Formats: sequence, structure tokens, C-alpha cells
Amino acid sequence: MTHQERLDELRRRHAQAELGGGEERRARQASQGKISARERLELLFDEGTFEETDKLVVHRSQEFGLAEQRVPGDGVLTGYGRINGRTAYAFAQDFTVLGGSLSEANAAKISKIMDLAMKVGAPIIGLNDSGGARIQEGVASLAGYADIFLRNTLASGVVPQISAIMGPCAGGAVYSPAITDFIVMVERTSCMFVTGPDVIKTVMHENVTKEELGGATTHNATSGVAHFIARDDPDCLALIRELLEFLPQNNREDPPRLESTDPADRRDPELDAVVPVESDRPYDIKEIIRPVVDDARFLEVQELFAKNLVVGFARLAGQSVGIVANQPAALAGCLDINASDKGARFVRFCDAFNIPLVTFEDVPGFLPGTEQEFGGIIRHGAKLLYAFAEATVPKVTVITRKAYGGAYCVMASKHIRTDVNFAYPTAEIAVMGPDGAVNIVYRRELEKAEDPETLRREKVDEFRQKFANPYVAAERGYIDAVIEPRDTRPKLIAALRMLETKRDTNPPKKHGNIPL
Ligand code: HXC
Repeated sequence: MTHQERLDELRRRHAQAELGGGEERRARQASQGKISARERLELLFDEGTFEETDKLVVHRSQEFGLAEQRVPGDGVLTGYGRINGRTAYAFAQDFTVLGGSLSEANAAKISKIMDLAMKVGAPIIGLNDSGGARIQEGVASLAGYADIFLRNTLASGVVPQISAIMGPCAGGAVYSPAITDFIVMVERTSCMFVTGPDVIKTVMHENVTKEELGGATTHNATSGVAHFIARDDPDCLALIRELLEFLPQNNREDPPRLESTDPADRRDPELDAVVPVESDRPYDIKEIIRPVVDDARFLEVQELFAKNLVVGFARLAGQSVGIVANQPAALAGCLDINASDKGARFVRFCDAFNIPLVTFEDVPGFLPGTEQEFGGIIRHGAKLLYAFAEATVPKVTVITRKAYGGAYCVMASKHIRTDVNFAYPTAEIAVMGPDGAVNIVYRRELEKAEDPETLRREKVDEFRQKFANPYVAAERGYIDAVIEPRDTRPKLIAALRMLETKRDTNPPKKHGNIPL
């Protein structure tokens, strides 16, 4: 064979791999608004940096006609490249090859890049688009999934793992994304479920469409399985690139610090009036978050789920921070089961990856009611408490208004190792709101009083005077400083700078036992 013939042979094999499942199947995917696995990787990585691995891998199965369906690459593209100038690893399932189904061979490809990512210490991004385990391969494909699940688990807290759902994701296949840190779903073209509509109809006699059951809106707004919703494939990939900019490469690195042109000493007088004077009037906490952070840029995580707690990434003087904030505009900012789960997972992610936590607090307490109690608010609320308490990253809290009851303790209070605690002059820090307090403490007096309403009003006023302010806590040092809202940004930046070299640890243990 001449040199040219050898080169031709190589090129022929590459071309075959690049054709995937053929023109017809590719056209069918395109007609649904999906771009190809290869195009997805091109958009995900910095231009021209993606290096494909195992492009020529084929499966070795003979059963059920598989011997005749051998496509180089075997339905998944794997490799590495640069994202925002930093190394990252990715796999992209190709639905045109046997429905992107997971085979023994393509699971090995995925495992291989996951192992590399762990050795090097760089993020892993999975672009999922697959009919699940390759049915014809039986247990070998299940073993492949389990191999990936194990690696997802071991990589958890070591390197960031991000899953995009860009097509179907059914059966046990959902559990790899579920173990990863963030799930992005594409509107209309993606779905996730453990058992599909047909099985549900047979077993439960329920009629539900694929979209209703496991579409992007369902998992972003209702189940909380997903963290982001993307309009289409390019939007999904751009979002992953944006998210990665906030994250370190691994748990031993600090997150990247970008140059910021937004002045660190920028004060904003408009902030003084965002929290309403009437303590029961709602306001949008994002009207405090956005003006405070660099360039008003806030990447909200799980925006549509448990809206009573806002979480997401931003920067302060270029430093990446995780923001956790009660949202008085939803459920008055009460903590409920979903908000607790959402917050706990986010706090633990930030702690695992050295991202400082900034907490904005305005919480009247845990949401009361049988639904919450029967659903285990005790167990779920404890997760958030546990997560904040165990976190050793720099922690700074700003109490904007209410900090009542157990929720005061939970929301990164001084007592659970928060480094710097600020409060606005509008802060109210007490065991409960004045009305509730008077009803309990003066129950007997109120029952006996000739004019209970006047007594109630007097006592409520007394409670409000005594506790509906930040000064009792400040006198005890539970609040380090009562600040003017306009100074929030410079105060937060100064605190975070001071905490830059913070080192704190937890007692040695195999792992804690967070109330799951
Ligand atoms: C092998 C598969 C496949 C699979 C799809 N295909 N899923 N091949 N194994 N799991 C093939 C089809 O035969 C077809 O081949 C091509 O992919 C496209 O499939 P279509 O059905 O034509 O596509 P569409 O109508 O878009 O429907 C997509 C789908 C459906 C909803 C994903 O294919 C489907 O329901 N697939 C099975 C899903 C499933 O039950 N998987 C097992 C889950 S259990 P041709 O040659 O016609 O193009 C599981 C266990 C994991 O995953 C265990 C972990 C613990």
C-alpha cells in the first residue's frame, strides 16, 4: 500500500464515522430542530479545539442483526478540548446510530474520557440524546451504564459534571444525569423519565404525554430534576459555556477570577428603598441581587422551581460567588420542602468547589401546613441547615428584612460558622413575627381581657419595638455590622477580599449523614 492509499483508507474510515447513521436519519433529526452530535460539540468547545477520541471504535455484538449495523464511533462521540480557554471533556450521543443507545463499546468510550477527566482534574459534559440501554446487547449495556454511574459518583465533588438533555433520556439512563451537578434541558426536543407514557398507562391507567411527563418545563418547574431550560441546541450549549465560566476546573482549584470593570466601591442609593417599609409587603429580591453584583449579571439556577428561594452564580469584583436568597415575592419567602432541597444542593455544590456563598435573607419561617409536615419538611429543612453548617467556604450573609425562627438559624446565621453577617436597618430578627408571638405569649391575658383587640395591638407594638430591628442581634455580635443598603456591594466585596485565604475544616470522617 502506498502512503496515499493508507491516507485514503484513514480518510474513508473517518468519513464513515462522520456520516453516523446516514443521511436519512440525520435529516429526520434536523427536521425536529436538532443539530448533529458533531455540530453540538463544535459549538460547545472553543472553535477548532475539539479532539475526538475513539472515533473508530465499533461494537462486537452479533445478535439481532447488530453484526450488520457497525458504525465507527458506535453512536457516541467522545473527546476533549478547550472551553473558555480551559480543558474540558465531553461525550455526545448520536441518535442517528441505533437511537444513540448505550452499548458496551460506547459506554467504555465514555468511561475512558471520564477517567481522563478525573486524572487531569477538568469538567465533564455529557450531551445526552439516546433511547437508553441498547436492547440487543442485554446485560452488557446495563453494565456499561453502571460503569458510568460509578464514575459519576466518584467524580461528584471532584470535577464539575454537567448534563445536557438534547433528546430522549429514558429508563435508568436518567440516573447518570441525575448524579451530575447540573442538568440543562432543551425545550420541545428533550424528555426524561424512568418509565414512559406506555408503561404508565398499562400499570397506572394514567394518560400522559411524553412532554407532560418529562419535558423541559416539567423538570424545570415541577419536579426540580433540571436546573436550566434552553430554547434550542445552540442556546443549551452557550448556557453550558456560560455556567463553566463561574466554576473551577476541580475541587482543588479556586474558581476563576475575571477582570471586572464594574467598580468595587460602587454604591447604589436606589437600594435604600427596595425593601418596603411595611414588613408584609412583597418585593423582588433580584432587585437587590442584580444591582449589587458585577454588571448586574446573575445566572439563576433552577429559576422556575421553588421560586421562594433564589439561587445562582454571579461575580463580585470578578470573584465567582454562589448566591442564595429568600424571595419575598413568592410564598412570602417561606422555606418549604422544595426550596430547602434546592438550596441545600446548591450550597453543597458551591462548598465542594470553593465558591464563596453570599446569602440574602428575608424569611418569615418555614411554610406551615399538613402538606409540608406530612411531606417531611423537618427532614428537608434539615438538609439546608446541614448544608450551610457544613460549608467551609467563605460565607457572608445580609439580612434584608425578616429573619424569624428556625429559618434565622438555617439561613447562614453567625452560629453555623458564617464569617460575616450584615443586616439592613429594616431587619427584624426574632423567634417569630409580632402577631404570632403575642397570640402565644399573651393567650390567657387576651382570653380574659375586656378589650382584647386593644391589648393585642399594644403588645404587638411592644414586640415590634423590641424585636423588629437588627439591634438586639447586633448588640450580641450575631450581626457584625448594620449597613446602609446602598453600601451592600462594597461591603460584600471587602468581606470576601478579607476572607480570600480562609481555611476551615470539618472533623475527619468518612462522610456525614445529611438527612436525605
Ligand atoms: C437499540 C434503539 C433503542 C434502544 C431506539 N433505538 N432505542 N436501538 N436500543 N434502546 C433505535 C430504533 O430501533 C430506531 O432504529 C432508532 O433507534 C430510532 O428510534 P425511533 O423509535 O424510530 O425514534 P423515535 O420515534 O424518535 O423514538 C425515540 C424513543 C424510542 C422514544 C427513544 O426509540 C424508544 O422508546 N426507545 C426505547 C426506549 C427504552 O425503553 N429504552 C430502554 C430503557 S431501559 P432505526 O434503525 O429504525 O433507525 C434502560 C436501562 C438503563 O435504558 C439501565 C440503567 C440502570
